[in-house]
Amino acid sequence: MESKTNQAPHQPVKYDYRFKVIMLGDYGVGKTSTSFHYLHGEFKSTFKTTLGIDYEAKMVNYEDNIIKLLVWDYPGEEIGTSATRVYYTNAHGIIILYDVTNRSSFESIDQYITDVRESSAFPNCQIVLFGNKSDNEEARTVGYAEGFELASKNGATFYEGSAKEGVGINEAFNALIGKMMAEAREGKFVEEKKPAFQHYPLKDPKITNKKDKCY
Ligand code: GTP
Repeated sequence: MESKTNQAPHQPVKYDYRFKVIMLGDYGVGKTSTSFHYLHGEFKSTFKTTLGIDYEAKMVNYEDNIIKLLVWDYPGEEIGTSATRVYYTNAHGIIILYDVTNRSSFESIDQYITDVRESSAFPNCQIVLFGNKSDNEEARTVGYAEGFELASKNGATFYEGSAKEGVGINEAFNALIGKMMAEAREGKFVEEKKPAFQHYPLKDPKITNKKDKCY
């Protein structure tokens, strides 16, 4: 599997499948570092805390298919609020991260899985659990077996690794792509049919005359 980045500018890029992938996990577990390493192949130690919600696309070849991956990064502190849950809409895959040196980030995982299952992500949204910062072995407080067990219990695939050392990241994304492709090929990502436009009659017609204000 390899990235296709040498497309001519402004040329529409054709693809066979498009998947929305979300990075979840507590503040500072390494969501931005991990997605950045996957997208750009390097570790940057100077990220500011993610404040907005941002995504980046990557074209990937998978078994003769071109896949457009949209990787969404979320601010750790805001996850689980109704404001951010809306961004899970139609997510095909989630990478939930914890920091192997931060036990409390591991204890949050159940809540993230519940959030995903209750959100408007696809019901068969695929999950990979990723224990990050495995390079910092002396500070480890979560064992490999614990991560593995939690993932198995929730039907997720498990990897440990390090954004700093570039370990386990491609494997985690590739596993997720494989899982999403298997679902997609069986036609299991079915969007709920919602009206494209819902008409709400204005109760107060005067509102329409307020041309000088923005709402
Ligand atoms: P928020 O956006 O604030 O929620 O953080 P985040 O989850 O995106 O984490 P981020 O990628 O910003 O990394 C947080 C800190 O952990 C930074 O200082 C990173 O340099 C560091 N970090 C990230 N990944 C690793 C890793 O694999 N090993 C080590 N030792 N440090 C890491």
